[in-house]
Amino acid sequence: MHHHSHTRATLGGKMSAVLVAAGSSVGLGNIWRFPYVAGDNGGGAFLVIYILCVVLLGLPLMIAEFTVGRATHRNAVGAYQALDRRWSFLGYNGVIAAFLILGFYFVVSGWTAEYMVHSLTGDLARYTTAEEYSSVYENFIRNPWRPLLYTSLFVLATHFIIELGVQKGIERSAKLLMPLLFVILIALSIHSLLMPGGGEGLRFFFRPDFSKVTPQTFLVALGQAFFSLSIGIGTMVTYASYFKPETNLRHTALNVTILDTLVAVLAGVVIFPAVFSVGIAPTSGPSLVFITLPSIFNGMPLSMVWSSVFFLLLVVAALTSTISLHEVVTAYLHEEWHMSRRAAAWTTTLATLALAAVASLSLGVLDGWTICGLTLFDSLDYLTANILLPVGGLFTCLFVGWRLDRKVLKEQITNHGELKFRIYGVFIFLLRYICPAVLLLIFLDNLGLF
Ligand code: TRP
Repeated sequence: MHHHSHTRATLGGKMSAVLVAAGSSVGLGNIWRFPYVAGDNGGGAFLVIYILCVVLLGLPLMIAEFTVGRATHRNAVGAYQALDRRWSFLGYNGVIAAFLILGFYFVVSGWTAEYMVHSLTGDLARYTTAEEYSSVYENFIRNPWRPLLYTSLFVLATHFIIELGVQKGIERSAKLLMPLLFVILIALSIHSLLMPGGGEGLRFFFRPDFSKVTPQTFLVALGQAFFSLSIGIGTMVTYASYFKPETNLRHTALNVTILDTLVAVLAGVVIFPAVFSVGIAPTSGPSLVFITLPSIFNGMPLSMVWSSVFFLLLVVAALTSTISLHEVVTAYLHEEWHMSRRAAAWTTTLATLALAAVASLSLGVLDGWTICGLTLFDSLDYLTANILLPVGGLFTCLFVGWRLDRKVLKEQITNHGELKFRIYGVFIFLLRYICPAVLLLIFLDNLGLF
């Protein structure tokens, strides 16, 4: 067994654990993915199921991942290896899933960067109708070069921060970017609530229509919850491996979960009123924020400012998340393959850039090239959010609930007896019985077994 813990970085200040983990959780999943997934699945009804998934499954699982990370001070693979070799597959599932997520996440991140730049230069303000914005978007994502350029820039920005290290890179960027993100989001929410004709959008978002709910809705809500919270694939294991001994794991998890859900709800508050005010279907899919919003901003005074600020919000949210995904792979290569951190970071960067390039082209020149009828871009999204994350989550709760030494779990959660955990029993019950049962049910249901 290798011992890295003595040379390993730890996060500094009291808020660091929350900010860094929230930086991972809050991302495109909240602002780009959540609104269109909710729009596709019945709005308010989806929100209810989503919040149930977050509280009953997401929160216990995040605590479980934190436990594994801080108990071992290793990367995702090394952590499970140190606890029980037979469970290392969970770590590998994580590293592979992080790599595959980056494959499409970097593409969308690149779009947000391009849209931000084009908002700033005023290019994006030259059109008027939603149809025009739709063709601008289609032309853009199908273009072989422009998305690649912005995706590469985004990958390099991520790389640069990762190379600076855990404290100077990851921690410092989170401390700067997360407060910025909240200021922007609150400003945009106020702006949106004051918009005439937005009430219909809020009603759609908050009034549950359970007639839209199908078995698939539960899987989608679950996948969205795990994706948004960054759980199931060892990202939180990796981040918690840098936590200090004093960090309160369940308070950190609770704060991160609350912040993440708040951002998703505020993103809905920003986006749905806008969508309804111009009469676009809220079900327009991944293009929602790229087509609908620019056309809405355009009708407003100071449109350039609003749209630049909105896309800056997306860039910031995306960046703190790509950093966390990159770190999962980098820490693994660094610690398990004994590469220098620099070499590990470059390897991750070049490999993800190659995958992202193909994923980007799969929306344009390579769109004939499909897997089960999906483009590479869509299959990466589907495979990770709907399969690898829930499967990873299932085995994580089985591992921590049933296999992990109870003493280790209790020590981590109570910081060696210093903290009280009144609902420890409830937590264990959720982790051992409720999480695995619900995860299995949702799977079997979607395989058509009922
Ligand atoms: N949670 C991020 C978002 O909502 C994306 C992300 C970062 C992620 N790390 C992850 C998703 C790990 C799943 C697993 O955009």
